[in-house]
Amino acid sequence: MALSDIRRVLISDSLAPACAHILRSQGGIEVTESTGLTPQELIAKIQDYDGLIVRSATKVSAEVLTAGSRLKVVGRAGTGVDNVDVDAATKNGIIVMNTPTGNSISAAELTCGLILCLSRQIPQAAASMKDGKWDRKKYMGSELHGKTLGILGLGRIGKEVATRMQSFQMTTIGYDPIIPPDRVTAQFGVQQFPLEEIWPPVRLHHGVAHPCCCCPPPQVCSMTSHSPSASAACK
Ligand SMILES: NC(=O)c1ccc[n+]([C@@H]2O[C@H](COP(=O)([O-])OP(=O)(O)OC[C@H]3O[C@@H](n4cnc5c(N)ncnc54)[C@H](O)[C@@H]3O)[C@@H](O)[C@H]2O)c1
Repeated sequence: MALSDIRRVLISDSLAPACAHILRSQGGIEVTESTGLTPQELIAKIQDYDGLIVRSATKVSAEVLTAGSRLKVVGRAGTGVDNVDVDAATKNGIIVMNTPTGNSISAAELTCGLILCLSRQIPQAAASMKDGKWDRKKYMGSELHGKTLGILGLGRIGKEVATRMQSFQMTTIGYDPIIPPDRVTAQFGVQQFPLEEIWPPVRLHHGVAHPCCCCPPPQVCSMTSHSPSASAACK
């Protein structure tokens, strides 16, 4: 597929204005921005386009892909392609592209922020103060220093979370079915354990998860109560 094959593109989710601007000014592409379409409206419209760009709201189903008789490419502005029927796209000869690194750092920073909120109960304390109270002792929290962080999924975001939380002097352990422990994760300071030794009740959604567990305190993590070996690892 050459860029010149793409003459008309539909953007069906809310995107930064730069996206349409770049396509128009650098690609000479005719861009239509139309958000909030129903599945039926999208199916009726898609036949006029060579490309479709979505975030996560638009469901690019097999029906949409089949209706897109001139569709050549679906672009997902983001990491996951759960909202695109990739098998149906492949059957129809449509390329599916994503932007896997676009917001990894933002997602990692948010994760680290949530870890701090958990250990320091910052949202609860803020809500309490806005309620006119000053419960200093109730929201004392716990230090992350010297605690262990369990990371499920050691890809881009998992790695960025690990290296940031190491600066809090946390020990980082984790599990990933694909990333090799010795050659890769050890290089960014994560010791891998079998999943059942990290957190047995974790149920992985869509095959990828980044729940972060700090042990102790017990209110932050139930890991140690479920696995003796994880407990040993999380001193
Ligand atoms: N909410 C957001 O703003 C946001 C932003 C970026 C990414 N994400 C999501 O975060 C997730 C991770 O993104 P990433 O860029 O780090 O992806 P990535 O592909 O770099 O890493 C994901 C890792 O998860 C591992 N994995 C797969 N199945 C697993 C399982 N069953 N148990 C444990 N690990 C498993 C993979 O081997 C891979 O190393 C994706 O689902 C992505 O959609 C969300």
